[in-house]
Amino acid sequence: MNSLKMFLFLISTLLLCFGCKSSTQKDSMKTVMDPHSFSNPSITKVKHLDLDLKINFENKRIEGLASYTLEADHGSELILDNLGLIIQSIQIESGGSLTEAHYHIDTIDPVLGAGIHIELKSKTEKVRIQYMSGQNAYALQWLPKEQTRRKKYPFLFTQSQSIYARSWIPCPDGPGIRFTYHAKVSAPKDLMVVMSATNSMQRTSDGIYEFDMEIPIPAYLLALAVGDFDFKAIGNRTGVYAEPGLLDKAAAEFSDLENMLITAENLYGPYPWKRYDVIVLPASFSFGGMENPRITFLTPSVIAGDQSLTSLLAHELAHSWSGNLVTNASWNDFWLNEGFTTYFESRIMEALYGKPYADMLSSLGFQDLNKTMHEMGTENPLSKLKLNLQGMDPEEALTDIAYEKGKLLLRFLEERTGRAAFDQFLKNYFEYFKYKSNTSEGFLKFAVEHLIKQDTSLLDTVKKWIYEPGLISFTPAYDTLRFKNIDQSLVLFLKTMNPKSLHSDAWTTHEWIYFIRKLPSDKNIQRCLILNSTFKLSTARNSEIKCAWFEYAVKNNFGKQILPDIQNFLIQNGRRKYLMPIYTAMLDNALNKEAWIIFEMAKSGYHPISLNSVQKLLIEKI
Ligand code: BES
Ligand code: ZN
Repeated sequence: MNSLKMFLFLISTLLLCFGCKSSTQKDSMKTVMDPHSFSNPSITKVKHLDLDLKINFENKRIEGLASYTLEADHGSELILDNLGLIIQSIQIESGGSLTEAHYHIDTIDPVLGAGIHIELKSKTEKVRIQYMSGQNAYALQWLPKEQTRRKKYPFLFTQSQSIYARSWIPCPDGPGIRFTYHAKVSAPKDLMVVMSATNSMQRTSDGIYEFDMEIPIPAYLLALAVGDFDFKAIGNRTGVYAEPGLLDKAAAEFSDLENMLITAENLYGPYPWKRYDVIVLPASFSFGGMENPRITFLTPSVIAGDQSLTSLLAHELAHSWSGNLVTNASWNDFWLNEGFTTYFESRIMEALYGKPYADMLSSLGFQDLNKTMHEMGTENPLSKLKLNLQGMDPEEALTDIAYEKGKLLLRFLEERTGRAAFDQFLKNYFEYFKYKSNTSEGFLKFAVEHLIKQDTSLLDTVKKWIYEPGLISFTPAYDTLRFKNIDQSLVLFLKTMNPKSLHSDAWTTHEWIYFIRKLPSDKNIQRCLILNSTFKLSTARNSEIKCAWFEYAVKNNFGKQILPDIQNFLIQNGRRKYLMPIYTAMLDNALNKEAWIIFEMAKSGYHPISLNSVQKLLIEKI
């Protein structure tokens, strides 16, 4: 199968290249080999998807009809990705008549699923697939009503990135393939439905909703949420969906959303997706945020009560340009999505809240990068920006590196070329590659033409950043005065053990995190006790502070004393970024039994993505 795919790919690339005329045409016609998709976009392209979905909460299934409109110059086969779907029938529509299609499904790869090969006639216009999602579909989380705030209605949401759209829709599931979509969704009446498309903002009386996404998007941005939630406007183009009882709090926490949108536009050009709304999901959501176009999906843990975690909003909003408008051609170029976004995020934060605040966040990110690099080793191929993920599960390979090393490269380029020139370059970049996918090579070529120009030594350095593992020596000029003050107070506190010597009354969340990270790892239980009882860290409202404290406490033999708080946190939160370090610390610090017990209690509330990651960790460390 793979060699056949490679052969077809080579032939099609050759044919395409011979037919190319101008270089711009060539760029947009190139199809990148995607190691995580079986689809064949260089031979048969889909243009549009019509979905008709029924949401069946009793059986925890989506019953779907996916109807694809093909580009006219297609080949004799359409290959779609699928992971555990139950295919009921496939029909093709050619010259206005509908016939049963000949198709076969490959043998199953446990990570990638199996390609569905559908035979086409020379003039097939549409392919219709009647299907159902399987049990334990990886992208879906079906929450019973008990796991929602009001405990009245069940909740369903999807998480398609990186390769799970195929577990709820048969689709060409590579980030380099874009199509428009229309959907009709029937849900139990009383429930609201939203998708990564134009949303109604109001509940319908019959539970039937229709959606349009008329801008072509890749499959990983297909998203759906069904539940007991309502909408509240924040600005003209922005608003929030959340469960009743949380809606006002969420709107207050995100009151700067419209300003963020305007700030982002001022930086890198007009927002092309019309509206930007967010939805607050139940706490079991595995991620902080997911940039589904027109409606970012968010963890409720971002609602800290003091807007201290809203850089996450800036991040997801920034993806509207880097990721959703200009998309990594395959997950090998993940840094083009996340590195650009992390850079863009910090520019939004700086413009809105000033350089000292943004730099504080950036320098914590820089610490994260150094820590990850130290843990994975500077020779590790996964520490390159350009990855080679052939044969690998993206789950295991998409790390902080893309975010923080990617951001640092852009910061480096900014410092080398000057902010004005660099901003103009980024604006041009988004304009040039909009609605397209891009590779590291595409970025480099564009950067040489528009930024680096004759500076060959700069070009060599940039290539090293992209293609070599480890870090190029570069310390960005961050303003870290507030952190330096903490260093000083800490010295005093370590001497006196008097918490007053910290002068922590006005510390922000980020100063607390910095402080916890700076505490010595000397297993000093007495110190842990003083800090925890003075500052109530294990019951802090802020989830980032709590997570940092739990990890530190467990590593310093103070986990047992605050185990009930750790247990609550691990049961109430499904965010993988929090679960992984705490479970890891427990397993490495003689709390194995406790970790297993908590996992058994918590697991029915975890999303399949988090469940799988934590389970793997526990089993590895048996
Ligand atoms: N697109 C990512 C989430 C993602 C990445 C999902 C890879 C699946 C595979 C999203 O934009 C993201 O980066 N979320 C972060 C928050 C961000 C502020 C770093 C998260 O969820 O922690
Ligand atoms: Zn992101």
